[in-house]
Amino acid sequence: MTATDSTRELADLQAFSADPYTTVQRLYRENGAISTLGAGPMRFRVALGTEVCAFILANSDLFSWEAAFTALAPLTGRSALLVNDGDRHRRLRRLVTPAFTARRVDDHRGTVTRHIENAMAEWAPGDGVDVYPALRRAMRLATLESLFGVAAMERSEGLDDWLHDIHRAIDADVVGGSIERGSGSPVWRRALLARSSVHRWVIAEIERRGAQHEPGDDVLGVLLRGVNGTRLTDDEITDQLVSLLEAGAETTAAQLSWMLYCTLRDRRLWSEITGAVTDRGADEPGPPGLDHLVSETMRLYPATAIISRKVAAEFTLAGQQFVPGDLLIFSPFHTHRLDSVWPDPERFDPRRWDPDSERCHRPAPYEFLPFGVGPHRCIGAHFATMAIKAAFAAIARRIDGELLTADVRPEGLIGMHPKGGITVRIDRKR
Ligand code: HEM
Repeated sequence: MTATDSTRELADLQAFSADPYTTVQRLYRENGAISTLGAGPMRFRVALGTEVCAFILANSDLFSWEAAFTALAPLTGRSALLVNDGDRHRRLRRLVTPAFTARRVDDHRGTVTRHIENAMAEWAPGDGVDVYPALRRAMRLATLESLFGVAAMERSEGLDDWLHDIHRAIDADVVGGSIERGSGSPVWRRALLARSSVHRWVIAEIERRGAQHEPGDDVLGVLLRGVNGTRLTDDEITDQLVSLLEAGAETTAAQLSWMLYCTLRDRRLWSEITGAVTDRGADEPGPPGLDHLVSETMRLYPATAIISRKVAAEFTLAGQQFVPGDLLIFSPFHTHRLDSVWPDPERFDPRRWDPDSERCHRPAPYEFLPFGVGPHRCIGAHFATMAIKAAFAAIARRIDGELLTADVRPEGLIGMHPKGGITVRIDRKR
C-alpha cells in the first residue's frame, strides 16, 4: 500500500464518520463494490451493491456476530441475541421468539395507539412541534409497557434517560471501533452507568413477579414461562429485555418520523391519506395502503442504515481476499437507492409497492433489507411494522399539519433519524 493510499483511506474514514450516507454513494461510484477505509484497528471494508449483498446474506456462516459486537457486549449484555452465534444463538432465539406471536403483536397495537394519542394530546392547533422526540418518547413508553406491563410504568422514572445514554454509545460504536469509546470516553462511561441502572431495574421487575408467583401476561411473562419446561436464566432474560427496549423503540420511532416526513412533504399524498380530498375524481387513484407507505419509507430511510460483520472464515469477494478478523460493513441505505434496482430512486413513490401498478418492483431479499436477512433477521419485524402502521394511522386520523422543516438530513446509523428533528405546525385536530 502506498502513502497516497493510506492518506486516502484515512480521509475516507473521516468523511464516513462525518456523513456516512453521501460517503457510501461516492465510494461506490469511485471504487465499485469494495472500498477500504481507515487504519490500524479502525480499518474496515465497505461492501456495496447487490452482488456483495447477495453474497453476504447467502453466506452467514462465514461471519461472526459475536466477534462483530463483542465490544458492545458490556452495554447489550453477553446474552443479547445479536452478540451470539451458532448453537447458543439458536437456543436464545427459540426461547425469545414466543414473545413475538401474532397475539402479542396485536396487543402491542393498542398500546402504541394509546401512547401516540397521549403524545398528541399535548399538541394544540397553531403549535410548531418537533415530532421526532415526542414520537420517540411515545414509542419507548409503548415498548416498555408491552415488555413489562402497565403497572411497571409507574416505576419507570429514569429509564428513558438511561436508554437514551445507552443508545448514544451503541450508535457511535456501530462500525466496531472506538470512535467514541476510546479509553473510557464520557459517552461510553455514561452508557455503562445507565446500563447498570437498567439492569438493576429489570432484575427488580423479575423479582417482583417471583414474589407475586405470577409471571404476567406481557413479554417478561412469556420469557419467564419459557418453552416446554426450559427457560432463560434471569440474567439472560435481563439481557434480552434491555436489548429489546433499545432495538425496538429507537428504530421504530425513527422509521415513523421518516414516514411522517415523506408523506407531509407531499401535500397531495397527505391529503389522499387523511381522506381530506373529498372531491377526488373517479380516475384518481386512492391513497396507497399503509403497507406500501411503510415499505417505501424503509426503502428511502432504513432505520438500520449500516450493518457490520466480522469475518470468521476466509473467502474472496469481488476479487478481494477476506480473512478471519476482518471487519466488513454493508448498507441497506445504499442498496435501497441503487438506480439499477429502483427507477428514480430518490423519489418517494409508494406505488412501486402496489402489485396493481406498472411501477411495481418486487425486490429480491438482497435488494431490500431493512430488517436484515438470515439467522439474525430482526425478531421484531412484525412488531415494528404493525407499531408504525398503528401510530401513523392514529396521527393521520387526528392531525392536519404543515411540515416546517425542509430538506431534513439523516443522522445516526442504528436508528437513523432526522437530524435536528422534524417540525410540524399543527393546523387542525380532528
Ligand atoms: C423499524 C424498526 C426496526 C428495524 C429497521 C430493525 C432492524 C433490524 C436489523 C437490520 C437487524 C439485523 C441486524 C444484523 O443482521 O446484524 C435487527 C435485529 C434485531 N432486532 Fe430489529 N429492527 C426494528 C425493530 C425491532 C423491534 C421492534 C424489536 C423488538 C422489540 C427488534 C429487535 C431486534 C433484535 C432482538 C435483533 C437481533 C436478532 C438476532 O440477533 O437474532 N427490532 N433489527
